[in-house]
Formats: sequence, C-alpha cells, structure tokens
Amino acid sequence: MPEGKLSPMEKEFSGKVAIVTGAGIGIGFEICRALSAGGASVVLNDLDASVAADAARRIDSEGKSTIATPGDASDPGFIDSLVEETVGRFGRLDIAIANAGITTYGSFLGYTVEKFQKLVALNLQGSFFLAQGAAKRMREQNTGGKILFMSSVTGHQSHPCLVPYGMTKAALRMLAKGLVGELSQFGINVNAISPGAVLTERTVGDDPNFEESWGQATPVGRPASVADVANAALFLVSEKARHITGQTLLVDGGWTSTSYVPDLQIPD
Ligand SMILES: NC(=O)c1ccc[n+]([C@@H]2O[C@H](COP(=O)([O-])OP(=O)(O)OC[C@H]3O[C@@H](n4cnc5c(N)ncnc54)[C@H](O)[C@@H]3O)[C@@H](O)[C@H]2O)c1
Repeated sequence: MPEGKLSPMEKEFSGKVAIVTGAGIGIGFEICRALSAGGASVVLNDLDASVAADAARRIDSEGKSTIATPGDASDPGFIDSLVEETVGRFGRLDIAIANAGITTYGSFLGYTVEKFQKLVALNLQGSFFLAQGAAKRMREQNTGGKILFMSSVTGHQSHPCLVPYGMTKAALRMLAKGLVGELSQFGINVNAISPGAVLTERTVGDDPNFEESWGQATPVGRPASVADVANAALFLVSEKARHITGQTLLVDGGWTSTSYVPDLQIPD
C-alpha cells in the first residue's frame, strides 16, 4: 500500500450506505463523489435519468458502489421506493441527505399557487419524507444513522425575490432541531447545512458573472466551491460529529455575519 493511502477497510465511510437526492450535478454530486471516495456505497438520485446515470458512471464506472436512482424526490411514493431499493441493493441505510431543492425566484405579490406548491413539495415534503423513511429503516436496523438537510443562508436572512424559498429553507433548520427529540433515542443525528453562494453548473449557467458578483458580496472574497459544502456535509454525517445534532452549519464565507452599512468615515 503506497504511503499515505488508506486501504478500503480504513476509509472513514467503509461499510456505510448513503442516499443523496438531487445529486446529478452541483453540491449533491460532489457529496456523492466524496462519500464514495471515503468508502461508502452511494445511491445517487436525480429527476433526470440520463443526468443521474452519467453522474453515477463518472463516480464509479463499474456501478458496484454507486448506483443511479432517477425519480422525483418531491414524491413520497418515490421516496419510499428509493429507501426500499437502497436496502434491496446494499442491505442497509446509514446516511440520508435531502439535498434536492429548487430555487424559484419571484416577487411575493406575483407568486403563483403552482410555483408555491412545487417549491414546497420538493424543498419541504420531499426532505421531510426522506427523513421519515430513512429514520424508520435506521430504527429497524438498530444501528443509528445520520440525516442531513440542505438549508440555505436565505433561511437565516432575507433575500430579494426569494421569500418563499427562504421560508422553506428556514423550516428545514427547524425540522433538524425538532427531530432531535424523536430520533436521538435511536442514535440518529439530524443536522442541516446552510450554504451561501455556491459555484455550480446551475448558478453559473443562470449568471455568467456569478463568481465575480458573489465574490464581491461574500466577505472571504469568493463564493463557495461545491467541495466547501461537501466537506461540511461529510463532517456532519461522520462519526466525528457524533455529539452534534439539531444544528445548522453555515457555510457562507461570512455572508450572514455582515450587514449593510453606509460609507462611514471612522478615524483610526
Ligand atoms: N447552489 C447554491 O448556490 C445553493 C446555495 C444555498 C443552498 N443551496 C441548496 O443546495 C441544494 C443543491 O443545490 P444545487 O445548486 O447544487 O442544485 P441544482 O439546482 O444544481 O440541482 C441539482 C440536481 O437536482 C435535480 N433535481 C431537481 N428537481 C428534482 C427533483 N424533484 N427530484 C430529484 N432531483 C431533482 C436536478 O435535475 C439537478 O441535476 C438545494 O437544496 C439548494 O436549495 C444551493
């Protein structure tokens, strides 16, 4: 074994089985890649079947430890089958990451019922029932487990034209807290991550100047990479975080620590 390399048995997530929703690209993909590199078997979900298949192939061309499971993560029926398929394929479930979420912009006064229902269905209903399905399985296994929600800085501070989105993301933080009382007795940790601006295929596709404009708005001078968020996710679903539950970790380069101030002339 070359120096510095870990054998498969020594990898942090060896023997663990994880589900990650909305993971064909972006943050979810990077979490799957990192979990797989850490030795986990990964069930990679995406709404788009070809995106999911391509993503799983890029992580594991032999399909032995990463499988694509296309489907709509907002649909509780699909979520049930996702958990079943995971257990059927890998025999257990240890980590569930409700990453899938849509970001729908729109003014409060113009927001439609259809847009609202689609947003709530994925960001809240999908996350809630993935947590429920996973927790039932983890309780049955009697092995404990880790559940992680993907919140957002917009669930902490308001953001123009993202009020309904921010509302769903704030609710996920409360869901993580609320489940502590019900799931700690089964050894299940529940946490959330709130990313700030993250460079992804989607954010750069929507705004080619994303890196520059959000770099200026982020105190550390750059938006997060997907790896910045995945690093935090892997910590929270690892045994290193076994005494952490009900928490939301901000990964925002300082964005929520600052507020707008006028140009002040302050003497040294
Ligand atoms: N990118 C950011 O700047 C940012 C910031 C804060 C929070 N977040 C949150 O992080 C999570 C991931 O964000 P992202 O930007 O990496 O994702 P994204 O928008 O790039 O989407 C990733 C994948 O999710 C899939 N998807 C969409 N609807 C789905 C559904 N109903 N079922 C299953 N898959 C579906 C898409 O096909 C896509 O491949 C989301 O919950 C998002 O709200 C992102």
